[in-house]
Amino acid sequence: MKRLKISLVAIIVLLSTFLLSGITCAFHEGGEGYCEGCHTILGSPSNQDWSTDESSSAVPPTLILKGSDPSSTCLRCHAERSADHSVLSNDGSRFTPGGDFYWLQKTFSWSMEGLSYQSRADSHGHNIVALDYGLNPDGRLSQAPGGSYPSAALGCTSCHDPHAKTTGNGVDLGTTMAPSSYGEEPSTGTPPGTFRLLGGVGYAGGQLRSGVAFRSAAPIAKASSFGWAETDYNHTAYGSGMSEWCANCHGGFLNGSTGGVAGKHPAGKGAKIPAEISNNYNSYVGTGDVSGSQTSAYLALVPFEVDTASASLLDPSSSSGPGSGGDANVMCLTCHRAHASAFPSMGRWDFETSLMAESHPKAGDGGASGTDALHSYYGRNMIAEFGEKQRQLCNKCHLKD
Ligand code: HEC
Ligand code: HEC
Ligand code: HEC
Ligand code: HEC
Ligand code: HEC
Ligand code: HEC
Repeated sequence: MKRLKISLVAIIVLLSTFLLSGITCAFHEGGEGYCEGCHTILGSPSNQDWSTDESSSAVPPTLILKGSDPSSTCLRCHAERSADHSVLSNDGSRFTPGGDFYWLQKTFSWSMEGLSYQSRADSHGHNIVALDYGLNPDGRLSQAPGGSYPSAALGCTSCHDPHAKTTGNGVDLGTTMAPSSYGEEPSTGTPPGTFRLLGGVGYAGGQLRSGVAFRSAAPIAKASSFGWAETDYNHTAYGSGMSEWCANCHGGFLNGSTGGVAGKHPAGKGAKIPAEISNNYNSYVGTGDVSGSQTSAYLALVPFEVDTASASLLDPSSSSGPGSGGDANVMCLTCHRAHASAFPSMGRWDFETSLMAESHPKAGDGGASGTDALHSYYGRNMIAEFGEKQRQLCNKCHLKD
């Protein structure tokens, strides 16, 4: 366990902010038992000896993380069975926008025409290190492709700021650890938090101090409005800046980056969706069916950013496709999940098959349980919904099927 050395003055300020304020609010907004949710405090905060008299010989409090490492600490709550905010289940049934870390433990194997194939557990997502949960660093990639963030340091706090100390536009809130407003309109007098507590400009990315400081702000987006399960009418509404934020660690994948990754797809603020492509998106229902219209075109498996800097303009229950004005843009999460998925390269769908019905995990695959295939597409029965002949979902925009 890691012991955290902190200054006595700092902790007095912090504890008095949170313990004496007496407000009850959501856990990460500084609700009751806030510090103790993640830290064991040795030396009671009510011990007047240390809190009032700096010259006293009383031992200052020491903060210890409750788990073996930062991610194990988060998972004490975020792997709670059937809790809404869980992002690690034992059957892939957490259909959150970010995705279920369950898939990091599942390798699928099959054979076709005498050849053997695998969809490796490691390739299914961001391999966060959470020793208490048996989650280890990626065995194939030693650092972030297109960047230098070390895989061995990857954890929840690589991306999420546990103290919500940086705002979206990079203002360091110092030691006051202001309650986060989760990126929505802040209540009067509180600084704005970021969407999903994501690290803003200057955030140093977690306990192991990766050496990679963020240069782009946290994205503008608004979380699903009812329940945490993603559907076409209850999903994250993406505003702007997601790709730029991912590029804090994957700079080479961004549009126009120098020394970028060969063959990457346009993504980011500059990757505008022209009228021709938005028309495709809006009319596309599935392979062979282009009878759709904009108002009902949204497909949560293929999201886009509407390009706004104001979260209050975003509607997580919108089922609308992109407008034809060329404002909307492609982003990393058009094709990838942020946490993990059932598929290689953390795809929102299986990139490695031509027919969606042939996606892996598939019934009969080595390593697949009875519900894996259904859970891999967030409970959607792909054949019933799109037909046996449905091809790659790139066609939602490119109509090449
Ligand atoms: C003591 C339990 C607990 C611990 C430990 C905990 N969380 Fe949470 N977290 C919650 C609860 C409960 C919610 C649901 C919303 C709320 O009540 O704040 C939540 C919500 C969240 C959200 C979504 C916030 C939103 O936009 O609604 C994120 C992101 C998050 N937690 C990340 C983390 C990370 C990262 C850690 C570890 C550094 C962590 N949590 C540790 C209980 C916890
Ligand atoms: C590589 C960056 C990254 C890592 C690592 C990461 N998250 Fe997230 N997380 C995100 C992003 C981005 C979102 C928003 C996803 C969206 O809305 O599409 C998110 C969303 C969430 C949410 C809201 C529910 C959801 O899944 O959309 C919770 C809760 C959360 N993260 C907790 C955690 C915990 C706990 C860990 C570690 C076990 C973790 N995250 C690791 C980037 C990350
Ligand atoms: C804090 C740094 C960090 C951020 C931010 C980050 N990543 Fe990563 N990413 C990594 C690292 C490290 C790896 C390699 C280790 C691994 O795959 O587990 C990686 C791997 C990946 C992979 C390859 C997965 C595989 O195993 O084949 C994809 C795809 C990816 N990231 C997409 C994203 C997207 C999309 C975002 C934004 C939502 C994002 N990343 C944000 C650090 C980051
Ligand atoms: C959601 C979990 C969570 C909560 C709540 C939380 N911490 Fe932390 N804290 C961490 C983690 C994880 C680390 C390890 C550093 C890292 O990974 O960024 C840490 C590190 C620290 C450090 C070491 C310096 C630093 O920033 O790295 C101090 C001091 C600290 N916490 C104080 C507090 C105090 C005081 C509170 C209550 C006001 C608090 N923490 C609430 C998760 C949390
Ligand atoms: C239009 C879909 C699409 C978009 C948008 C997209 N990707 Fe990918 N990405 C893919 C596909 C398909 C693969 C797997 C095939 C390959 O490696 O080219 C992939 C692979 C990756 C990998 C794994 C590379 C490796 O070496 O294993 C990373 C990392 C990655 N993408 C990050 C990103 C980031 C970051 C963004 C946003 C800046 C992004 N992608 C945008 C489709 C996309
Ligand atoms: C949300 C819509 C969308 C999706 C989904 C999408 N694309 Fe694209 N794609 C675009 C846009 C916008 C461009 C920019 C070029 C343009 O204006 O025509 C583009 C450009 C391309 C290009 C030309 C590359 C370049 O550098 O100009 C290729 C090749 C491509 N896409 C392949 C794919 C593949 C493969 C997938 C699926 C893995 C995919 N696209 C998914 C919207 C999309």
